[in-house]
Amino acid sequence: MLFVFSTEGDAIKVYVRVRPPSEGTVLADGDHGLCLSVLSSNTIRLHSKPEPKIFTFDDVADMDTTQESVFSSVAKNIVESCMNGYNGTIFAYGQTGSGKTFTMMGPPDSDNFTHNLRGVIPRSFEYLFFLIEREKEKAGTGKSFLCKCSFIEIYNEQIFDLLDSASAGLFLREHITKGVFVVGAVEQVLTSAAEAYQVLTMGWRNRRVASTSMNRESSRSHAVFTITVESMEKNNEVMNIRSSQLNLVDLAGSERQKDTHTEGVRLKVSGEILQFLFC
Ligand SMILES: Nc1ncnc2c1ncn2[C@@H]1O[C@H](COP(=O)(O)OP(=O)(O)O)[C@@H](O)[C@H]1O
Ligand SMILES: [Mg+2]
Repeated sequence: MLFVFSTEGDAIKVYVRVRPPSEGTVLADGDHGLCLSVLSSNTIRLHSKPEPKIFTFDDVADMDTTQESVFSSVAKNIVESCMNGYNGTIFAYGQTGSGKTFTMMGPPDSDNFTHNLRGVIPRSFEYLFFLIEREKEKAGTGKSFLCKCSFIEIYNEQIFDLLDSASAGLFLREHITKGVFVVGAVEQVLTSAAEAYQVLTMGWRNRRVASTSMNRESSRSHAVFTITVESMEKNNEVMNIRSSQLNLVDLAGSERQKDTHTEGVRLKVSGEILQFLFC
C-alpha cells in the first residue's frame, strides 16, 4: 500500500493505492491473507489487532485499478491547475516495494514511456501538452507558452542534477519571489510530450548509472522532475505572463526515516525536501 499526496495551491489530497501481491505470493481464500480490505472508493479497513480500524482518504485505488485511472484521479486536476497558474506537486510515499516508482514512472527497467503501463509522470506530460495545444488553438497567435524542466536526485542530503551527470552536488537557495529552488540545475526547454519523455529517459538512465557506479541506492533517493509552464498573452497591448510549477516526485522508501541511527539528520533533510516541494 502506498500513499499519493498531491498539492494544488494550498489544498493537499491523499490517495491510497493498494498494490497486488507480488507473483509467487500465495494467499489464503478471499482477502483474509491481506492486511487490509478496500471498503469503498475512499475507505479502507486495516485488519489490525485487537480491533480493525477504518480510514478515509480522498480516493482509494484497489489492486485492480489501472494506471490510467490512477492518473485521472490523482493528476488530471493538478495538470489543469498548472495551466491556470497554480503550482502543484505529486508524490508517492511508502515502503520500498510498495509501488511508488511503478505509480509515478511505470514498470521497472522500462524507459519506454509509451508503454501502456506508463505512470503518472509520462501521462502528465501528455496531458499538459494536449492542454497547451488546445489552448494555443483557442487563443490563436496572441498566446504562447514556454515549458522548461529540470530533473534532480536527492540522495544522502546531497542534490544531483540528473540532466548533467558531470555536475557536482547542487544547493538549495531561497529566493524572495521564486521561493526555494536548486541553484544551477540544468533547465531544458520542452516543446512536446515526446521531448519530455526523452529528457525523462536520459535522467532516468543517469540515475541508474549513478546508482551502480556511485553506489547510490535508488530506493534511498528522491527523484524530482519539475516542469515550469510560462504563458504569455497580449491583452490590449499589455503582456500578461503567468508562471507555475509542477513537481513530480518519486520518493525514497519511507522505511529509512525510521532508521534510529540517522533519525535526526534524515528528519531534518526530509523537512528541507518537503519545504522545497511545497514551495
Ligand atoms: N499496482 C501494481 N501493479 C503491478 N505491479 C506492481 C504494482 N505496484 C508495484 N508493482 C511491481 O512491484 C515491484 C515494486 O514496485 P516499485 O514501484 O519498484 O516499488 P517502490 O518504488 O515503492 O520501491 C515492481 O516490480 C513493480 O512493477
Ligand atoms: Mg522506487
